[in-house]
Amino acid sequence: MDWRRFFRWRTEKGRGRACPTLLTPELQARIQASFDQAAGDEEHFPATIDPRIYHVKLIREHLGGLAGKRVLDVGCGKGRFARVFQEQDPEAELWGLDLSEAMLRRVPAGIHTRAGSMTAMPFEDGFFDAAYATESLEHAVEIEQAVSEICRVVKSGGRIAIIDKNAAQWGRLATPEWERWFTREELERLLARHCRQVTSRFISYWEDVAPDGLFLAWLAVK
Ligand SMILES: C[S@@+](CC[C@H](N)C(=O)[O-])C[C@H]1O[C@@H](n2cnc3c(N)ncnc32)[C@H](O)[C@@H]1O
Repeated sequence: MDWRRFFRWRTEKGRGRACPTLLTPELQARIQASFDQAAGDEEHFPATIDPRIYHVKLIREHLGGLAGKRVLDVGCGKGRFARVFQEQDPEAELWGLDLSEAMLRRVPAGIHTRAGSMTAMPFEDGFFDAAYATESLEHAVEIEQAVSEICRVVKSGGRIAIIDKNAAQWGRLATPEWERWFTREELERLLARHCRQVTSRFISYWEDVAPDGLFLAWLAVK
């Protein structure tokens, strides 16, 4: 067997570490089980988020007014971002997709939910006016495929926001073996295959605090 088909090698604090690149059914079941269990951990996987946090504000700013729009939260967890957007724009149609049904059971009423993988989304092309993914793409394993799916389900002219962690900071937090962080260029390049406008920037939790390099936001227009 050629192990390079299934893993990419990376260095973590000077030690080599194999990272899977194929979302096999076994790996998907393991990731799902891990998040099903994490759903009970409100401290690390909270169901709510302060709407003043810049991650929320930036997505909202990029997506614009959501009234009358159909918006997808990709890897929504308990739907903490969608909950804020629904409160801010009750006329918006919010959807959450997640691998973990235990997470989805905690999504507030009024937000549509679907169980499934972002690498094979159960939605038609161009079904959404906009989509965003916060700290979920890092778990998708097949990253190119997930980015392509996010872009496929958004209509032409629709807006996409991804917030995730910076590969240059790898090792700063404990991570499961499937997790991946990204360079600005890497996700810009993947998004640019499907989108006509792509930018990225470092962000922090608070607008008036200088970013420390951990979080990146990629903003695109399809
Ligand atoms: C760290 S949580 C973030 C949840 C949410 N976006 C938030 O910011 O609160 C990552 C989420 O991604 C989901 N996830 C992992 N792999 C996925 C996949 N292939 N497709 C869809 N969701 C996935 C997990 O079940 C989990 O709920």
